[in-house]
Amino acid sequence: MSIANQEVSSASFERGGAPGLAGTGLRDAALRVDPGSLGSAAFRREYGLRYAYCAGSMYKGVGSKELVVAMGRRGMMGFLGTGGLRPAQVEEAIRYIKAALADGQAYGMNLLADPMRPEQEDRAVDLYLREQIRTVEASAFMQVSPSLVRYRLSGLTRNSAGEIEIPNRIIAKVSRPEVAAVFMQPAPAQIVEKLVAAGRLTPQEAMLGREIPLAQDICVEADSGGHTDQGVAYALMPAMIALRKRIMAEHAYREPIRIGAAGGIGTPDAAAAAFILGADFIVTGSINQCTVEAGTSDAVKDLLQQINVQDTAYAPAGDMFEMGARVQVLKKGLLFPVRANKLYEVYQRFGSLEEIDEKTRVQIQEKYFKRTFDEVWREVTEHYAATHPAALAAAERSPKQKMALVFRWYFVHSTRLALNGSPQVSDYQVHCGPALGAFNQWVLGTGLEDWRQRRVADIAESIMEGAAEVLSSRMAGFMNIG
Ligand SMILES: Cc1cc2nc3c(=O)[nH]c(=O)nc-3n(C[C@H](O)[C@H](O)[C@H](O)COP(=O)(O)O)c2cc1C
Repeated sequence: MSIANQEVSSASFERGGAPGLAGTGLRDAALRVDPGSLGSAAFRREYGLRYAYCAGSMYKGVGSKELVVAMGRRGMMGFLGTGGLRPAQVEEAIRYIKAALADGQAYGMNLLADPMRPEQEDRAVDLYLREQIRTVEASAFMQVSPSLVRYRLSGLTRNSAGEIEIPNRIIAKVSRPEVAAVFMQPAPAQIVEKLVAAGRLTPQEAMLGREIPLAQDICVEADSGGHTDQGVAYALMPAMIALRKRIMAEHAYREPIRIGAAGGIGTPDAAAAAFILGADFIVTGSINQCTVEAGTSDAVKDLLQQINVQDTAYAPAGDMFEMGARVQVLKKGLLFPVRANKLYEVYQRFGSLEEIDEKTRVQIQEKYFKRTFDEVWREVTEHYAATHPAALAAAERSPKQKMALVFRWYFVHSTRLALNGSPQVSDYQVHCGPALGAFNQWVLGTGLEDWRQRRVADIAESIMEGAAEVLSSRMAGFMNIG
């Protein structure tokens, strides 16, 4: 047990939490839950883990290579936040991780859906296959894409015992049952046929692909930091588990599909609740952003370490601005959530930048952007001409779309301000959910109050070990031997 763990566990239990179990022989003997037994044994075996605990991807390298390595070295799994990183940065991080986890410890990469630019997804899959990345956390998929299928089915073989060898594993992060259902099925035949016709899969890979689910592991994301459908774990988990039962009954899969829980987990109590709900593994995010290893600025971590559970708010998601998708962000001390929501409201109300009333135009340009719309548009044109010319051409034809691209700039800008620790604090965009507020309360008055003492793997261990204690204690209480 780490030092941090001792501090945190004893602090929480002494301060009116669940009573500890020490010194009660009966409980020690009969009810001590081992943190290494929480979740699915098959999950731990598959990924070679000590604990069924993952640190989810956090974009732009907030989920850093150091974070991934720290988790892997302690028998857990971290995912590199590849979203928004350049391919060369991802390649460099892969080299670093592979060198540091050369003994085969677990790690993974984020594979983000990009339906507007499928070639980006394809490029990521090319890289992952070339680099033999064996685990991806697939997120933001609303439907199955060819690149996802290519990743999963590439390299499928049948061994001498007649079993299918599956080199590539997908952990599908979903928040809706209809999307989960797609991942629990084998890859769609239509997509597979096209990939075979294009020479991107072999007929044998296609045939074997019919016998396995697209993803063996589904991570059910309830309300979380970052992009969120604001789901409620108590409702989502039982529904997803019932769905798994129905789909498993339709297929003769060799291994059961596993279901993990993400969203809102920042304390041992929350982790214990997730395991009681039937989680085969748990995934955290917000709490990891406020650690030494996280790839964001000290200024952001200083803000995050002080928050409570009510200090987050919802804002439009910059990357899906026009669709009205939402992210959960830090609210305390910041103007970003209010400003971002105002931009969405303005976007809905007006047909073009020119139509916006004078007072609002001045407010946005002077207070929010600190630049004119024309200056922002010039930056936007430069960027899109290089990265996404089709979107630029569409915006040049449609004044409303032009307004969307100008407003989207603010979301990129506000993320950059936060990551760089710029003095313009009020405009920081920091994805975060209430799990961190709960964590902060749990460690109040302990060594972990200061983020400079928070190490991602210590925290993970503390939560798993604390969850085991919580479960032991609750069960003793329920059985009237407490
Ligand atoms: C700062 C931040 C950035 C995130 N970026 C991504 C991302 O790029 N891809 C992804 O799949 N999930 C992303 N997430 C979600 C996390 O991987 C994780 O699923 C989620 O944070 C769990 O919920 P919690 O925040 O309540 O712990 C992000 C979360 C945070 C806090």
